[in-house]
Amino acid sequence: MREKLLNLKNEALAQIISATDPEELEHLRAHYLGKSGVLNQFAKELPLLPNDLKSETGQLFNEIKSAIADALASNSQASIPKSQNFDSSLPGIRPPLGHLHPVTRAIDEISSIFEKIGFIRVRYPEVDWDWYAFESLNMPKSHPARDDWETFFVDAPEHPKLGKIVLTPHTSNGQVREMERLGQPPIRMINIAKCYRRQSDVSHTPMFHQFEGLVVDEGINITHLKGTINYFVTHFFGLERKSRLRPNHFQFTEPSFEVDVTCDICLGKGCKLCKEGWLELGGAGMVHPNVLRSGKIDPKRYTGFAFGWGVERTYMMKSGLKIPDLRLLYSNDIRFLNQF
Ligand code: PHE
Repeated sequence: MREKLLNLKNEALAQIISATDPEELEHLRAHYLGKSGVLNQFAKELPLLPNDLKSETGQLFNEIKSAIADALASNSQASIPKSQNFDSSLPGIRPPLGHLHPVTRAIDEISSIFEKIGFIRVRYPEVDWDWYAFESLNMPKSHPARDDWETFFVDAPEHPKLGKIVLTPHTSNGQVREMERLGQPPIRMINIAKCYRRQSDVSHTPMFHQFEGLVVDEGINITHLKGTINYFVTHFFGLERKSRLRPNHFQFTEPSFEVDVTCDICLGKGCKLCKEGWLELGGAGMVHPNVLRSGKIDPKRYTGFAFGWGVERTYMMKSGLKIPDLRLLYSNDIRFLNQF
């Protein structure tokens, strides 16, 4: 019986696939799935099987029945009536053309905005030593501030000096790496890379991207930071958007700020979608002397600023883009992605 069923399936599928008009398809449907069709004949014989074969054969029977039904449903070519005339003067159907993912586009746009004012685009490891992710950034081992970065640790042997291996929870690991690469200021870095944190909700995904700016030179002060932020905000979001600095705390900057931009809906007046007219972009501040020391740069001679913001979050604050759930960006749903 098993063999008979399998032969039946092969035969049925071959016939259905090669059927070319709806009538033929209808005939096949009746022949296989109809009331007095072939499958129903089998169904009558099923109860007569010995008990040990019953459930196995029954399952196979069901699988075959739905395979045949699926094949009938998906033979759409045959569903177009033959009689329908083909109009050869109609424009052809173009094969769908893809485009870059919105996050890739945002990364390209951010890079080119910063490259115009002399920042060098770099990329540093996304799996890195504790030293670069935390310790060199003025966060000694077991410092409580580390808890803010819900970090994934890699199960690997520790390095005697650099410590454990982590999935980078922020792009700040590029700061000391860039100081080491260049050896001495001036530094104008834009580091864009993937980051990982133990989080997932409407505004967080376990993997996301950050872009980190770092400028170190003689005489760098907060006005340079503020000017750079204004330049970025007007170029990325548009001339009508403003930015502000709010006091905050990070171990690796002093003073530290949270950067806000005016809301794209109310432009700062205050509405349901923002906090009194403002949306939070991310952290920034003046590089802490201990971080410069980690990178072997003399803090008496040089100063610097840094900022690190999420690419997805920043992108979502563009005017007219209201993405209700950040996770949609990574759902690979073509209907969502086609809108960009
Ligand atoms: N690394 C910080 C974060 O992930 C952001 C930041 C970068 C803050 C640089 C200050 C300076 O939240």
